[in-house]
Amino acid sequence: MSNKATLSYNEKTYELNIHPGTMGDEAVDITNLMGDSGLITLDSGYKNTGSTKSKITFIDGDKGILLYRGYPIEQLAEKSNFLEVSYLLIHGELPTDVQMAEFSGSISNHTLVHENVKKFLDAYPSNTHPMGVMMAVICSLSSFYPNNANPKTSPEEVEVTIHRLMAKMATIAAWTFKKSMGHPYNYPNNKLGYVSNFLQMMFGLRTDDYHPDPIIVDALDKLLILHADHEQNCSASTVRMVGSSHVNLYAAIAAGIGALWGPLHGGANQEVIEMLENIKAAGGDVKKFIEKAKDKNDPFRLMGFGHRVYKNFDPRAKIIKQSCDQVLAKLGINDPVLDIAKQLEEAALNDPYFIERKLYPNVDFYSGIIYRAIGIPTEMFTVMFALGRLPGWIAQWKEMREMGEPIGRPRQLYLGNGPRDYINIQKR
Ligand code: CMC
Repeated sequence: MSNKATLSYNEKTYELNIHPGTMGDEAVDITNLMGDSGLITLDSGYKNTGSTKSKITFIDGDKGILLYRGYPIEQLAEKSNFLEVSYLLIHGELPTDVQMAEFSGSISNHTLVHENVKKFLDAYPSNTHPMGVMMAVICSLSSFYPNNANPKTSPEEVEVTIHRLMAKMATIAAWTFKKSMGHPYNYPNNKLGYVSNFLQMMFGLRTDDYHPDPIIVDALDKLLILHADHEQNCSASTVRMVGSSHVNLYAAIAAGIGALWGPLHGGANQEVIEMLENIKAAGGDVKKFIEKAKDKNDPFRLMGFGHRVYKNFDPRAKIIKQSCDQVLAKLGINDPVLDIAKQLEEAALNDPYFIERKLYPNVDFYSGIIYRAIGIPTEMFTVMFALGRLPGWIAQWKEMREMGEPIGRPRQLYLGNGPRDYINIQKR
C-alpha cells in the first residue's frame, strides 16, 4: 500500500505523505502544501483536521470505543480510581504503589489555597456562574506561584505545578459553591481521599466530622474518571493552542475552563437538566420536544444528544446510564426527571431524524441526574466536568510541551474587501 497521496491542481501533481496511527487510522500530511502549491486547506470547526499526533486517548466513534493510554474506559471506570487514572493520563503508565503514594500524597499536601483567594471569591456577586469564578481564580493562581510551568520551568517544577492544580482546583470548586450559598468555606482535610475531601468541602458542616456516603464517593469517582480526557475536543484543543504560545499552565487551563463552559461542550450537562425540567413542567410531552428538536426553524436542540466523533453510542453515556439507575436505587431516590430522560432517549433512538444523523445520548445526558442525586446544584455541573477533565487537559498540555509543538496559528480564506483608499466619511 502506498504511503503517499497525490493531489492534482493546475496541471501539477503534489505528493503528500501519509502518516499511520497505531489503531489503523491514517492522516495525510499537508504541512508543506502551501509552500509548494500556494493552497491552504479549509475545514471550519476542524471537522476533518488532525491538529496533532497524540499518545493519550483513542476514540473509535463508529464502534463506540474509548481508550485512555490503551486501557478501555469500561475497565478503568470499574476497577481504577480518579487519581490513578489522572496519573495514567499525565504520565503515560499506571503508577506503582510508591508512585501512587507520592502522587496522591503530594496532591493532598497542596490542597490549601492562599487566604487571599477568599477575598477574590468574596468580591463576586453571589449569583455569578461558578465557571466564570473558576476560570478567573485558576488563572489568578499564576500570580501566587511565579514558577508556574512555562517552557523555561524545570520538569520538577512542572510536576509540582501539576500537583498544585489537581489539589487546588477541588478546593476552589467547592468554595465557589460555598460562596454561592453564602456559607463559610470549609478547609481541606488531608486525611480524606480526593473525592471524600471534595465532598467534605462542599457539604461538611465541620472539617473533622464529615463521613461521606461510600455510594456517593464511588459514584462521583466514576464520573470523574469518565470525564478525564476525550482527545482533541474543544477545551483540550484550546489548552494546547493557548499553551503553545508558552504561557504558563494556569492560564492555559483557565482557557480550557472557558471553552468547556459553553452549552455545546461541557455546559450541556446543565442544559440537559434544565431541558428535562422544562419538559416536565410542560406536562411531560416528550414527542412535542422531539418535534421541536427536528424543526430547523426552532433553535431548540436535544441537549445531551449528538457528538462530533461518536456516530454510535457514547461508551461513557452507557456506563453513566447504568450507574444512574444504581445510584438512585441505592440512595432510595425517585427522580421523575429520570423517567423523562428515558422516554426522551427511547423516542429519539426510534425516530428517523436521529437514526439517519446517528445522534445518540452523550456523556452529558444522564450525568446531571447523578450529580443532582448526590446534592450538587445544577450550576455546579459544568464545574464537576472541569474537575474531571483537569488531568486530561494537563496531559494534553504536557504532551504538547514535550513534543516541542510550534505555536498554533491556523490560516484563513479571506473574503473581505480588496485594498481601498481611506476617506474620512465623518467630514463629508
Ligand atoms: N438535536 C437536534 N439535532 C441535532 C443535534 C441535537 N442535539 N445534534 C446534531 N443535530 C443535527 C444537526 O442539526 C445536523 O442536522 P443537519 O444535517 O440536518 O443539518 C446534524 O445533526 C449534524 O449536527 P452538527 O451540528 O453538524 O454536528 P457537530 O459535530 O457540529 O455538533 C454537537 C456536535 C455535540 C455540538 C451537537 O450534536 C449538539 O449541539 N449537541 C447538543 C449539545 C450537547 O449535547 N453537547 C455535548 C457534547 S458531548 C460532551 C462534550 O464532549 O462536550
